Amino acid sequence: MPSDSSQSFPTVGILGGGQLGKMMAAAAQQLGVRTRLLSPKDAGPMQFFADARTGDWTDADVLRSFASECDVITVESEWAPAAEMADVLPDGVSLRPGPSTLDLIKDKGVQNRTLAEAGLPLPAFACCRTLSDAVDAASQLGYPVVLKQFRGSYDGYGNATVEDEAALRQAWPDLSAEDGALVEAFVPFERELAVQVARRPGGQQVTYPVAYTVQRDHRCHAVVVPAPISPDVAAKARDIAASAVDAVDGVGLTAVELFQTEDDEILVNELAPRPHNTGHYSIEGAHTSQFENHIRAILDWPLGNPGLRADAAVMVNVLGHRDGHPPQTTGMNEALSISGAAVHVYGKPHVRPNRKMGHVTVIGDDADDVRRRAEEAAAAIQL
Ligand SMILES: Nc1ncnc2c1ncn2[C@@H]1O[C@H](COP(=O)(O)OP(=O)(O)O)[C@@H](O)[C@H]1O
Ligand SMILES: [Mg+2]
Repeated sequence: MPSDSSQSFPTVGILGGGQLGKMMAAAAQQLGVRTRLLSPKDAGPMQFFADARTGDWTDADVLRSFASECDVITVESEWAPAAEMADVLPDGVSLRPGPSTLDLIKDKGVQNRTLAEAGLPLPAFACCRTLSDAVDAASQLGYPVVLKQFRGSYDGYGNATVEDEAALRQAWPDLSAEDGALVEAFVPFERELAVQVARRPGGQQVTYPVAYTVQRDHRCHAVVVPAPISPDVAAKARDIAASAVDAVDGVGLTAVELFQTEDDEILVNELAPRPHNTGHYSIEGAHTSQFENHIRAILDWPLGNPGLRADAAVMVNVLGHRDGHPPQTTGMNEALSISGAAVHVYGKPHVRPNRKMGHVTVIGDDADDVRRRAEEAAAAIQL
């Protein structure tokens, strides 16, 4: 953005209609940037906000007409039809991140190979076409190994830790596709960490503080920032995250999931080419949230300060407890009465057990007290 020229306010198109799109739209709105949304499902969380439309996003005409009303198009998830959109993109409209970045991230085998070629530290892995390749790879790596789907996994669905060959043989049919599956050495990590990186098309980037991801039942339960790690390890984690995002030419916000081993080695687990659950704390916790920096980065606008606004920030997820439509809740009064609790409810039309329905963030100067209040508020909300 040249400092001396006037400019009009752009329109951002978002492919996807869930909570990430909703929070992107909220950040865009603050900057006077219009958003339009295209989703195959109606009544997602985005309906609260944007110029939302439901349409078949596998249809080239639907994509073309949507794109013609936008200046920049982004995706809420790596599963949105980016390649199809790229095929029909009108002149002067950009798709960010680009389809090649999305393509390589959404396949865990291609992603691992790309990062390894760029010299990034990863768990030892092998891309296996057949079960017999996988059996050979696992015996070389040594059990246990983690068998991962190449594509389509989330929240731990799509992975299995297998202790021996019999378990590998059993897991293979469910997790392998025609082109096979990924076999990774099991990392006995000390902690899971995450770093968000916002990057402009020219490569300029900012990295967020290192977040500690507290997992429960293979799901992100809470995020504690800053992670309770030494400054040296934090600096190493941020450097590795920044290099990983350069390696995939990520534009917008990219989240980097990391493992910290017992001897303070940092390994890249995986990348997400979008704002991420581990960065939700930044709405209240950072000077500029991951969502706002995503919007700024895809517009090629100056990036905001990713630093914390308090000594500590903790986010706790609110998961569904029952199956129902529309969701009903108890405990909102109690949650809202907890001092400093920022309550986010996504507005999903259906609740299911363990589905991410919202989150609570608390920031403050005492990490333990902040965590206690965030846990209490999140637990109160029973959806
Ligand atoms: N190589 C590994 N060693 C140990 N644990 C792993 C390994 N890979 C994944 N995990 C565990 O499984 C979780 C989900 O794996 P991940 O690859 O991040 O898949 P997704 O987030 O797509 O479900 C991780 O957050 C981590 O807890
Ligand atoms: Mg993951």
